[in-house]
Amino acid sequence: MKADLIVGLQWGDEGKGKMVDLLAQKYDFVVRYQGGHNAGHTIVIDGDKYALHLMPSGVLNPKAKNIIGNGVVVFPEQIIKEIKQFDNMQDRLFISSKAHLILDYHIEIDKAKEAAKGDKAIGTTGRGIGPCYSDKISRNGLRVGELKDPQKLMRKIEEHYIANKDLFKTLGLDAPNYEAIRAKIEHFKSELEGYITDTTALIYKTIEEDKKMLLEGAQGTLLDIDHGTYPYVTSSSTVAAGACIGTGLSPKDIGTVTGIIKAYCTRVGNGPFPTEDFGADGDRLAEKGHEFGTTTGRKRRCGWFDAVAGKFAARINGCDDLAVMKLDVLDGLKEIKICVAYEIDGKTVTDFPDELGLVKPVYETLPGWEKSEGARKWEELPKNAQQYLLKIEKLVGVKVSMVSTSPDRNDTIVL
Ligand code: IMP
Repeated sequence: MKADLIVGLQWGDEGKGKMVDLLAQKYDFVVRYQGGHNAGHTIVIDGDKYALHLMPSGVLNPKAKNIIGNGVVVFPEQIIKEIKQFDNMQDRLFISSKAHLILDYHIEIDKAKEAAKGDKAIGTTGRGIGPCYSDKISRNGLRVGELKDPQKLMRKIEEHYIANKDLFKTLGLDAPNYEAIRAKIEHFKSELEGYITDTTALIYKTIEEDKKMLLEGAQGTLLDIDHGTYPYVTSSSTVAAGACIGTGLSPKDIGTVTGIIKAYCTRVGNGPFPTEDFGADGDRLAEKGHEFGTTTGRKRRCGWFDAVAGKFAARINGCDDLAVMKLDVLDGLKEIKICVAYEIDGKTVTDFPDELGLVKPVYETLPGWEKSEGARKWEELPKNAQQYLLKIEKLVGVKVSMVSTSPDRNDTIVL
């Protein structure tokens, strides 16, 4: 049995949480493979809201088991908090011993470095993601499995502080309180030890036993460390290929890849965003779409659907189908713009360029519609909404298989 995958095709916040939650009903396992508590999924079920950051979204299906793969960076305090929201997680959550630990100093470094960058700041979530992945890549990281031996882990932490004394000083960070850190590590061990395991072996077993597995991407393709709008990106491989690295699966183990794409575009933090709308339409999208970060509460920048970026993202991930999210947020607009190409140096291009900050969007304008909200069948959609979706399908080059028309799990059209 191959593992299916869902991946965001924009700058994150596409609505992956709702889709994973919906799809998780059909899967035995849901797996996170990259990122950390910079992610934020809001899931609404019968009016009740759940905000998840680290926990795979399968948690709301009592039958699904949840895996935090080796590619994830884990802030122990956060996962402990999320575990406590649910009953009986013992047999339902497995954390890779090879995932990396985010400790307080990663968070402090993240914030201090951002502050030092001034107007060149990336606009990170301040969750220590970049510093933790930097330590991993420079082979100075601390892995979740090391929590099993707090004494040894403490020695490594002390060595790390000593080796990086100058950096901590330059960034104006306090000297470490080893006693406080030791107490935390002991606490993390006692709370998490029962969940830590070799998830790669578990995943192989799952595949061999023909269990159904869903791989859940966090953030989005345009925030990928290699393929995104560097340096305004996150520090992990957010694209589908990242799922192999972040779990131990081979490319041959991946089945259907579903791209999650919002009916318009948003971005949090800094960096180029060609279709950003600075006027009343942008404000309207932010307000109607509740475009405020689940993790940081920051207002998201909003704009029109960018089909050039969408096509690029669909190609990189090898998408088989698309789930178009938040169509209802466009309800009531007289006209809707869609970016079909970019203009750069007087030339029109339809490839996604490195110099995204220099492009101007080329728009087509489509007629709006009154109400799509709550539609559960294609026939219930206004004609113009159908035309808009068909246009997205044509420009991105991938069939639309699902459309979301409200935050509720049930307001979804499956085609
Ligand atoms: P970091 O991942 O906290 O290092 O932030 C790097 C960039 O990715 C910033 O622009 C963040 O706003 C953005 N980012 C990180 N996680 C998410 C997410 O889950 N949704 C949207 N943007 C994100």
